[in-house]
Amino acid sequence: MAEPLRIALAGLGTVGTGVIELLAANRSTIERRAGRPLEIVAVNARDRARDRGVDLSPYAWVDDMQAMAQRGDVDVVLELVGGSDGPALTLARAALDAGKAFVTANKAMIAHHGLALAEQAALRGVPLKFEAAVAGGIPVVKGLREGAAANRIERIYGILNGTCNYILSEMEHTGADFGEMLKAAQEKGYAEADPTFDIEGVDAAHKLAILAAIGFGARVDFANVEATGIGEVRAADITQAGALGYVIRLVGIASLDESADETRLLQRVRPCLVPRGHPLAAVTGPTNAVVAEGNFSGRLLFQGAGAGAGPTASAVVADLIDIARGDTVNDRPGVLAEITAAMRDAEVSIESLIQRGRDHAGGEVLVAMVTHEGPERCVTKALDLLNGSPSLTAAPLVMPILGD
Ligand SMILES: NC(=O)c1ccc[n+]([C@@H]2O[C@H](COP(=O)([O-])OP(=O)(O)OC[C@H]3O[C@@H](n4cnc5c(N)ncnc54)[C@H](OP(=O)(O)O)[C@@H]3O)[C@@H](O)[C@H]2O)c1
Repeated sequence: MAEPLRIALAGLGTVGTGVIELLAANRSTIERRAGRPLEIVAVNARDRARDRGVDLSPYAWVDDMQAMAQRGDVDVVLELVGGSDGPALTLARAALDAGKAFVTANKAMIAHHGLALAEQAALRGVPLKFEAAVAGGIPVVKGLREGAAANRIERIYGILNGTCNYILSEMEHTGADFGEMLKAAQEKGYAEADPTFDIEGVDAAHKLAILAAIGFGARVDFANVEATGIGEVRAADITQAGALGYVIRLVGIASLDESADETRLLQRVRPCLVPRGHPLAAVTGPTNAVVAEGNFSGRLLFQGAGAGAGPTASAVVADLIDIARGDTVNDRPGVLAEITAAMRDAEVSIESLIQRGRDHAGGEVLVAMVTHEGPERCVTKALDLLNGSPSLTAAPLVMPILGD
């Protein structure tokens, strides 16, 4: 049987336990699609004694979350703790630094530190994946990156916060005021006890910054997202909007402003009047929806559950399946360890190293490295040491660098 993808799971709350449940419920389907089993080997949360409704006995309990990054029996670190900084960020950096693949649902962390983490992941040649960070269960990151890859994206916009959408659509439906519907959202579990991030538009802004970066190939630029929440929207505004043929939705919009000398990425979250006939007007309750307009695809609409244990776990596990299929993690430590050991034994000093994912269906990985200046005989010796290694699928190509 193929080697399992070994996962360390930090965070055993709504999403973490959802992932455990999903992996158990769909085990054979996932294994077939991933080409190998997905196996949680270690878990961590704050309170070891808490009953979480799932059986944790098969997994090693790790008291110190950060120690997960160093475990030799782990291929992927899965962070489901939350928070833009603090332990989640420390874990992300440590995991990538240790050459582990890293998967997260943490929109706040990706919105604030996504660029630096992506650079670190690229440098180490390991995957960094965050499908669940944008619109929960909707595969919009994959849809934009892969499905719409051939397009120039002209505009991305959408309903990115389920709590706000529930409140606004219920205000419309019942005629009740904001405060009353916020309470209802909290009772139904759609809103946190402290709903500030949601109702002030910060959560939607995090997601918009990530979407815009993917859609426009730009840097994640959370600082430049303008956000206005829904706290000021009154029942009377909704009634007036209705009389004019609109509904009110909190919409995040990202587009390019090409009118000035320098093209600027505009990113804004605010309550908008949405014409009744527009697809976003029909999005009610805690649902999320994202529209991407491609220059050849036209309008693409992604819609679904933006939160909740099941949908969010679905996006997280899709990322894990991608990693399992790519063989990146399985190949990397063994092959790279062997190559770097040969270099060390031959006294060749490595200046930089790049590894790109498999370049065709055979699962081969192209490893390129630049060495510091040194005697050529040392490189020859390193190649002799690697001669016949099962890790190599072709003889390495050695090229000198032309000096000035
Ligand atoms: N919930 C959703 O629907 C949803 C949707 C999309 C994305 N997300 C994202 O997914 C992530 C997790 O969300 P969640 O709803 O599952 O959160 P949650 O229910 O609050 O769970 C957080 C988990 O992290 C653990 N934790 C928190 N601080 C810790 C610390 N300092 N050290 C060790 N463990 C710590 C908690 O441990 P204890 O249980 O022991 O307290 C808990 O198990 C967040 O980034 C969130 O934004 C969530």
